[in-house]
Amino acid sequence: MMHSMANCFVTRELPGSALERLAAEHGVDAWDGDLPPPREDLLERARDAEGLLCLLTDQIDAELFDHCPDLRAVANLAVGTDNIDLEEAARRGIAVGNTPGVLTETTADLAFALILACSRGLLQAAAAVRAGEWRTWEPAGWLGHDVHGATLGIVGAGQIGKAVARRAQGFGMRVLLNGSAPAPDRVSLEELLTESDIVSLHAPLSAETRHLIDADAMRSMKPTAVLVNTGRGELVDPKALRRALEEGWIAAAGLDVTEPEPLPRDDPLLSAPNLTVLPHIGSASHAAREAMAGLAVDNLLAALAGRPMPHPVGVPAAGRG
Ligand code: GLV
Repeated sequence: MMHSMANCFVTRELPGSALERLAAEHGVDAWDGDLPPPREDLLERARDAEGLLCLLTDQIDAELFDHCPDLRAVANLAVGTDNIDLEEAARRGIAVGNTPGVLTETTADLAFALILACSRGLLQAAAAVRAGEWRTWEPAGWLGHDVHGATLGIVGAGQIGKAVARRAQGFGMRVLLNGSAPAPDRVSLEELLTESDIVSLHAPLSAETRHLIDADAMRSMKPTAVLVNTGRGELVDPKALRRALEEGWIAAAGLDVTEPEPLPRDDPLLSAPNLTVLPHIGSASHAAREAMAGLAVDNLLAALAGRPMPHPVGVPAAGRG
């Protein structure tokens, strides 16, 4: 199908060569800063855009749509789309797409890395070596909790949650799933929290899942339990998590995502014991990020040519007005 050249704004430079495919067909203006474009720059630079390739650090909402009357397509370089007002986009007929699938195994690897690291206190032990605290082999030193044979509770049994469950089989774990899993594997959140030695979060962020893991949830977990979050920071109430770690409601936590992001250096949460925080690197492998850029460009090219996006995101059922 013949189509004309469209203006596209890309909110960050991307790894790999995907943007070359976009630039071969359309006009591409890319923000070249290392940090996200400040709000006013985003609104200004996207003003004439018909296509927008954005990141989870960009808030895409009614105000932006008002500033960008020609906008027809938004491709998010992420599987999560909580940074986009999906209802508002749908109301205005703006197509939205994401990058599922290509980051599933990569993100599950990172979740499992945090499960192992937090259960065995890997980062604390490694830091002790560098601090000159390795005195001898200690029979009762650096004791952690076994991962093999433990019960793993997976909150949010989508593609990534199921990929973590597959890894758990290799470790002989008992897996409990909550979310969209079919019965009989599915258990209530209450049962999952009380039964699990490790709880790993993979639910999308929505009004229903915001602070899903709050003080009550963490009080109901085992005092030996490990909490891992590679989904979205807002799934966990950070004030409650700090208390949970300080007062020993749970044993340890590993976060790849936080509220807010980035977590300021002096954020009170960082003073909590047995806490490992990573800078949102779940999908950060060379291969996954290049594939995500490829899918985001595929989404834009399709929508700008008047075809359906290969990976469209609709309005979630619960959010339909
Ligand atoms: C990253 O957090 C993503 O949603 O892809």
